[in-house]
Amino acid sequence: MPDPYLNPDALPESTLTAMSTRLEERGQHAGFLKMMDRYLSTLPTDRPLRVLDLGTGTGVVLRRLAEKLHPDSELHGADISNNLLDEARRLSPEQHIHWDHLQPGTLPYDDASFDVILMHTLLGHVPEPAELLRDVRRICSEQGQLIIFDADHAGTTYSLPDYQESRRIDALLVSAIATQPDICRQLPRLLQASGFELQSHDAELLSECGKGNYWLSSVRGFAKLIPALGILPPEEGERWEQQMLTSHEEGSFFASGAFYTFYARPRRGEV
Ligand SMILES: C[S@@+](CC[C@H](N)C(=O)[O-])C[C@H]1O[C@@H](n2cnc3c(N)ncnc32)[C@H](O)[C@@H]1O
Repeated sequence: MPDPYLNPDALPESTLTAMSTRLEERGQHAGFLKMMDRYLSTLPTDRPLRVLDLGTGTGVVLRRLAEKLHPDSELHGADISNNLLDEARRLSPEQHIHWDHLQPGTLPYDDASFDVILMHTLLGHVPEPAELLRDVRRICSEQGQLIIFDADHAGTTYSLPDYQESRRIDALLVSAIATQPDICRQLPRLLQASGFELQSHDAELLSECGKGNYWLSSVRGFAKLIPALGILPPEEGERWEQQMLTSHEEGSFFASGAFYTFYARPRRGEV
C-alpha cells in the first residue's frame, strides 16, 4: 500500500480530512512547536528573505514563520496536493503567502531563487530524495540555507504489552506512512551527494511515559487512516487503538520517537 503523502489528492475525502486535521493538530502541539521554533529562530529577521517551504501541506510551518520574518519577505509554500493547499489558503487569508501547486518533475523556480528552503517532514515521503535535493540545490542561492526537519520513523515506537506484537505493528505503521523510514540516517550522505555541506544538526526525543499526548493524538490519527489505507485488518486496528487508549487511561502509556533538524548550505561553485 503506497505512502498516503505521495498523492494526497487521490485519497477519499474523509481520509484527506483526517490527514489535514492531524497536520494542524501536530503543528500546534507544544512539543512539536518547540522543535519547529528552535530552527525557525535561527533565521535572520532584520532583512527580507525569499523563503520556500517545500511540501508545505496545510502551511502550518509557513504561517508561523510569516509572523516572525521581516514583513517584506517573499514566502512560498509549495505542494503537490491542491486540496491541502486549499486548506492552507483558507487558514491564512490575511497573510501574503504564495501557495504554489507543483506538477511532477523539475521545480518551477529559477536557479538561485531562494535564500531559505525548508522541508518539514517532506523527504521521508519522497521516492527519489537525492533527485529532489539536487533540484533544491539548483534553486538555492549560493549564500542560501537549507533546513530539513524530519522524524526518524524507523525508530518510532508505540508500546504494547507484548514486545513482538509492538515491533510488528510499529513496522507496519511506519512502512505505511513513510516511503523512506530511515531518511534522517541517510541525510548526511544525501546532502553531500547533492552539493550541500552539512553545517550542524539538532536531535530531539519526543517521548511520553504514563500518559500520552502528542503520540496519543498520533494514535487517534492512525486509527482513522488504518482502515482507509488497509494497514491492518480493521479489528486488529481497533484492538491496537484500544490498547493504546487503555494504557493512557491506566497511566501505563509508552510511545516515543526522535526528530532531527539538518542545517546545510550549498557547497561553493557546485550546481
Ligand atoms: C507529512 S506532510 C507535511 C506537511 C507540512 N510540511 C507539515 O509538516 O505540516 C508531507 C507533505 O508533502 C507533500 N509532498 C509529497 N511529495 C511531494 C513532493 N515531491 N513535492 C512537494 N510536496 C510533496 C504532501 O502532499 C504533504 O503535504
